[in-house]
Amino acid sequence: MTIAFIGDIVGRPGRNIIKQNLNNIKEKYNIDFVIANAENASHGFGLTIKNASELFNCGIDLITGGNHSWDKKKDMVTLLETKPVLRPDNYPPSIIGSGIKIVEVNDTKLAIINLMGIYSMPQVLNPFTHVVDLVEKLQNDGVKHIFIDFHAESTAEKRVMMQLLKGKVSAICGTHTHIGTDDLEVTNGTFYVTDTGLTGCRDNVIGMDSKIPIQKALTGLGGHFDVPNRCDSIMQIMIIELDNDGQATNGMKIKLYNNHKEVVSNALVN
Ligand SMILES: [Fe+2]
Repeated sequence: MTIAFIGDIVGRPGRNIIKQNLNNIKEKYNIDFVIANAENASHGFGLTIKNASELFNCGIDLITGGNHSWDKKKDMVTLLETKPVLRPDNYPPSIIGSGIKIVEVNDTKLAIINLMGIYSMPQVLNPFTHVVDLVEKLQNDGVKHIFIDFHAESTAEKRVMMQLLKGKVSAICGTHTHIGTDDLEVTNGTFYVTDTGLTGCRDNVIGMDSKIPIQKALTGLGGHFDVPNRCDSIMQIMIIELDNDGQATNGMKIKLYNNHKEVVSNALVN
């Protein structure tokens, strides 16, 4: 089974570059299932029903979220109830929606788990104790293919998740910082990257127009962040190969630029 993961999609530039390239990439690399984090896909904040359909029509199979999942709350409630859209599973159980879904891919069960970190994030349940219970339950149910989107600010939290779960899950991809890291590895059958990096504008500040972040840095006064109308964009996608036992055997990252330049890096396989 080959799965792919796209990190934080930011606004229209992110949606457009996916529209232009995802089908080709899926074909070229025989990708069976595509997961994407889209909590910033609608003008940088949240996800509308319209934009979610646009992303599903581009070939994305399942959408994950994070701290911005609720920015377009009414639409998100509908999406969580009716579409393959997750929010972090470690929100309190009283919160609508779920952060785990089991799908069938090539007659094999694949579980997708969405979790959120604690540092600099909304108050949520401990993601580490939470995921240990989730993974144990999945394994008892015979689910061996397990993918995790860990939406967290701190790089150390993400490394802890890796060390905690290596050998027990198929893949852990970090999201949230919007800045991709190049530490992709496969260890004990678990693919890992600290942060996947954004898909959207690459020439401003984490996909947002630089003007307000610069003003904030110089004066301490904030303002509303906007996605630029025009920019150079990037698509960042992880491609992960899993064997029949759910072990990652290989992984790579493709960075695709709007000038069609492509940079590919391979995971260190330990
Ligand atoms: Fe986030």
